[in-house]
Amino acid sequence: MSLTTPALPGHPDKWFDSDLNFHHLYPLYIQALAQKHWTPLKVVQKASKFLAAVPGARILDIGSGPGKFCLGGSHYNPEAFFYGIEQRHDMVFYATIAKEMLGFNNVTFIHGNLIDLDFSQYDHFYFFNSFYENLPGTYKIDNKLTYSRYLYNQYNRHLYRQLEKMPAGTRLATYHCAEEEGPEGYLLVDTAIDHLLKFWIKV
Ligand SMILES: C[S@@+](CC[C@H](N)C(=O)[O-])C[C@H]1O[C@@H](n2cnc3c(N)ncnc32)[C@H](O)[C@@H]1O
Repeated sequence: MSLTTPALPGHPDKWFDSDLNFHHLYPLYIQALAQKHWTPLKVVQKASKFLAAVPGARILDIGSGPGKFCLGGSHYNPEAFFYGIEQRHDMVFYATIAKEMLGFNNVTFIHGNLIDLDFSQYDHFYFFNSFYENLPGTYKIDNKLTYSRYLYNQYNRHLYRQLEKMPAGTRLATYHCAEEEGPEGYLLVDTAIDHLLKFWIKV
């Protein structure tokens, strides 16, 4: 399969000049989902700077879609390592193509369900309310999966349990998560983007 969109001419940083430019790394149907489902670059920049506080940090995007957070994070923080776990095969496929187009070697995309992931392999975490589409009346990425409130609760409970096991100093950035309280032991240290982006540290 080949990408229909040609590379942008000029300096490679052109991809990161705007969200519109960045989305040209993807086929049209992924571009069309961007406004509702992929993190804006200005949010990626703030969240990834918080998570990549120490060189060499291993940062996991929980539900990475077509990889926008990881690829943006890598661009803004070349000394960190970004990992994305994503359940949809097509998203991982296009994330990997975008990574190759950008030539980044500090990004890894994993196809799978976060339920099966070993969180201890990562230092810090990003979460854009990934399970939300399981709730009735929400925007769906596609109609290929079974959605349910049961899954929403199961995934959230699992995620919280894994995050609670992480050591003190673990950083978490959440975007569009309404909860005023994070996982147990996590302190809210700052917010940005009208409180939509929240920064937490485990104490
Ligand atoms: C709101 S999108 C965010 C994408 C990306 N993190 C970003 O910020 O641009 C959430 C993604 O999480 C994925 N997802 C939801 N539940 C998942 C699960 N249990 N395991 C792996 N991926 C999951 C969805 O398929 C979707 O691509």
